[in-house]
Amino acid sequence: MAETLWWQKGVIYQIYPRSFKDSNGDGIGDIKGIIDKLDYLSWLGIDAIWLSPINVSPMYDFGYDISDYYNIDPGYGTLEDFDELIEKAHSYKIKIIMDLVINHTSHLHKWFNESRSSRDNNKRNWYIWRDPVKGKAPNNWRSAFGGSAWEWDPKTEQYYLHSFLKEQPDLNWRNPDMRQSIYKMMRFWLDRGVSGFRLDVVNWFVKDEKFRNNPFTLKPLDPEKHKYSRNRPEIHEYIKELRKVIDEYDERMTVGEVFSLPPGDPELSASFLGDGNNELHLAFDFSIMYRLWSAKQFYNYIKKWYKAIPENGWSCHVLSNHDQPRGRSRFMGGIDSEKRARLAAVFLLTVKGTPFLYYGEELGMKNTQISRRKIVDPLGKKYWPIYRGRDSARTPMLWNSREYGGFTKGRPWLPVDSGYKRLNVRYQMNDRYSILNLYRELIALRKKFKALNEGELIPKINGFNNIIAYFRQYEDEMFFVVLNFSSKEKKINAGERAQWKVMLSTHRTNREYLTSLSMNLAPYEATVIMKICEFK
Ligand code: NOJ
Repeated sequence: MAETLWWQKGVIYQIYPRSFKDSNGDGIGDIKGIIDKLDYLSWLGIDAIWLSPINVSPMYDFGYDISDYYNIDPGYGTLEDFDELIEKAHSYKIKIIMDLVINHTSHLHKWFNESRSSRDNNKRNWYIWRDPVKGKAPNNWRSAFGGSAWEWDPKTEQYYLHSFLKEQPDLNWRNPDMRQSIYKMMRFWLDRGVSGFRLDVVNWFVKDEKFRNNPFTLKPLDPEKHKYSRNRPEIHEYIKELRKVIDEYDERMTVGEVFSLPPGDPELSASFLGDGNNELHLAFDFSIMYRLWSAKQFYNYIKKWYKAIPENGWSCHVLSNHDQPRGRSRFMGGIDSEKRARLAAVFLLTVKGTPFLYYGEELGMKNTQISRRKIVDPLGKKYWPIYRGRDSARTPMLWNSREYGGFTKGRPWLPVDSGYKRLNVRYQMNDRYSILNLYRELIALRKKFKALNEGELIPKINGFNNIIAYFRQYEDEMFFVVLNFSSKEKKINAGERAQWKVMLSTHRTNREYLTSLSMNLAPYEATVIMKICEFK
């Protein structure tokens, strides 16, 4: 069996840099702020940070529109700050993963300026330009952010493609010079010591060569709708090429954002792992973010996801990110929402596959209510009140009970959650039973026992009666995890007479011993038990 690598065993923590910690009082988070909080992240026990984009950007999409790949946005700091971040993070044994936004650039990127300057510019084909058809846009493709995906450029009298905002023109992945420039840029950051990349909308890079119209369908969430603008088979050749660049370096990794609509598409995500060794190292499957709170649905998620993963591949799991409502809000549950968030934490950190945490999830942060005039996300501005955009899940990290939760000494770019008096790092660090301490203990336990990080997962209760239970096993090490998704007490009888010890639980003390897996479960109980010895 191949040796398990850091990105398989470790826990990865996503930071949305604008909202993590502001060091200079301008109201937006920055790299120095992240450096200040490395001791916290090390205390929490994470292995790597994935930074949402920090490159130079005019911020039409808050960094997902890069105008200079080779520099850091001045709002976040300088290249020297970034080098310092890498160095200090490494001294804490924390790795840094960057966001690679290469489906598109900003319209202010110098490549696009050249490309749009004339039809015969040598970068013209680095982007996707088409003639009008019957005086209109070349085809019926829609931008993910609304409206046609084509923007007319009067200077050269052609349309360019933008899958997102018109300020985010799509790169042409079929152009080899463009691809080489991207690889060169990747090497620049790999040489600086980054440990890998998260690839933004990796399944959208390649478009149909003939630019055929997408099929018309009345169903709003029909994947067929994007038949020719996403998930084109040629993408895999380019990902293989990109993987070779990563493999020039030791111990680096990639994780792909394989974007799919509800209900999610595990097979599609897994297809980006190739044979497990020749495409991406990890890929997100967002199915779980589209599921309701139900043991059956969570169980079906892992079952389908594991089934889709190639033999040499590895899965990963994520409950929240900067595009979706925060997990705790999605799980609903009213006054029980924190209990649900705790159970979800135990699930995330005890199933097989690399866990990704989204900043603030470890505090049980919820979506923040934001009034219309404070919305800054272009999606929220456009679709309010039908869709309020993504700002509610991007509000500042809550550090202490001082003004603005200790995030900034200035005025924060987004409102600070009103729950910050108790829902903050300092308060929860001092409370042994806080959700923060639960996360910390879970991470420590996962790190300590191979069964919990690389061991096999053997299902025992598959969602029946709103309960999930599974074993995790590595050689002689055996764990049993039971999760009661229900607000009612439950009983299980999972046999297995042996000496068991509670290692972590939302409801039991760690000293408790059990002689079988017949147990009464409290509402929302999540318990992790280790086998001490067999009975003779
Ligand atoms: C996916 C990113 O996660 C999202 O925040 C962004 O708006 C789009 N890609 C466009 O880059």
